[in-house]
Amino acid sequence: MRILVTGGAGYIGSHTVVQLAAAGHDVVIVDNFANAKRSVVPRLEALTGTTIPVHAFDLTDRVRTDELFATEHLDAVIHFAGLKAVGESARKPLEYYENNLGSTFSLLAAMRRHDVGRLVFSSSATVYGDRAPVPYREDYEPLAAVNPYGRTKVMIEHVLADAAAADESLKVAVLRYFNPIGAHPSGTIGEDPLGIPNNLLPIIAQVAVGRRDKLSVFGDDYPTADGTCERDYIHVEDLAAGHLAALDALAEAQAPVNVWNLGTGRGTSVLEMVTAFEKASGTAIPYEIAGRREGDLAAYWADPTKAHAELGWRATRDIDDMCADTWRWQQGNPNGYPDA
Ligand code: UFG
Repeated sequence: MRILVTGGAGYIGSHTVVQLAAAGHDVVIVDNFANAKRSVVPRLEALTGTTIPVHAFDLTDRVRTDELFATEHLDAVIHFAGLKAVGESARKPLEYYENNLGSTFSLLAAMRRHDVGRLVFSSSATVYGDRAPVPYREDYEPLAAVNPYGRTKVMIEHVLADAAAADESLKVAVLRYFNPIGAHPSGTIGEDPLGIPNNLLPIIAQVAVGRRDKLSVFGDDYPTADGTCERDYIHVEDLAAGHLAALDALAEAQAPVNVWNLGTGRGTSVLEMVTAFEKASGTAIPYEIAGRREGDLAAYWADPTKAHAELGWRATRDIDDMCADTWRWQQGNPNGYPDA
């Protein structure tokens, strides 16, 4: 198939591009490079042994989006593009609503106009809100989120459900990610947050490589085994594989919208992660206990049984693999991708 990967230069998008190419698909990337560097592209081409068409524009531009579909003859879309920083979304809510919803509207319009009927969408465990029983199951309702970023994901899930219900040629996979970490085993692509990272693993990796002094652990008084928050960390390679499985499943899918959790089903605490990373890197990770971060939940993880039953997919890499691959990437690229 010829597949448009929106946000294909980003962290999860880039890893998925490599697996799509390995599976024999043709890949087309569209990315506005707001949160990705252009130097990822030659690395993707080296890993895939292909030349990848890259369109650099913002999907909220409906004219350019339509032109892209008119020229690229696509069969399916995997939609990663979007703004994703929880804290920033509270400061700039309108940008988040405009960008994340606008890009999706633009894509849906172009897909309909050009008869492209398969869409895989990047959603998030954040849509379960703060009241869902753990482990999170796909049939939990009502979806709720506690910040504007998360609300864009909830809103888009509703938009996609309504659009697919009204158009029998549209089949949608909604993938709810838990906490993606890790990197490609080659160490040539990985997560490269611009500016100060928001997420745990990039911060730990930057401490290990000497870019930052220490980690602040946000709270050690949660009702968990060691008092620190527990999350369901999933290797980005497993996550990418889930997209290929979902895309295949859409070919046979009866339901207009199919929702799958992509997680491991296991929780890992912040301090367990520190210990695992110290082991993988052979480096001490100095940390201090800081106050709780607003909006953090104590502990949650996925119930991944639906994805296993319906997609034949499950996560195969453990926390040690995730730390080893993150470390290989960080050590080989201490400052992330080059600027040029
Ligand atoms: N943490 C620290 N110190 C840090 C950063 C994080 O102790 O410097 C802790 C957090 O308190 C949390 C855990 O590490 O307990 C993981 O935090 P992340 O920021 O890496 O991830 P979150 O679980 O908060 O957020 C992730 C995604 C969001 C998504 C959210 C809910 O990054 O996009 O899950 O699904 F919205």
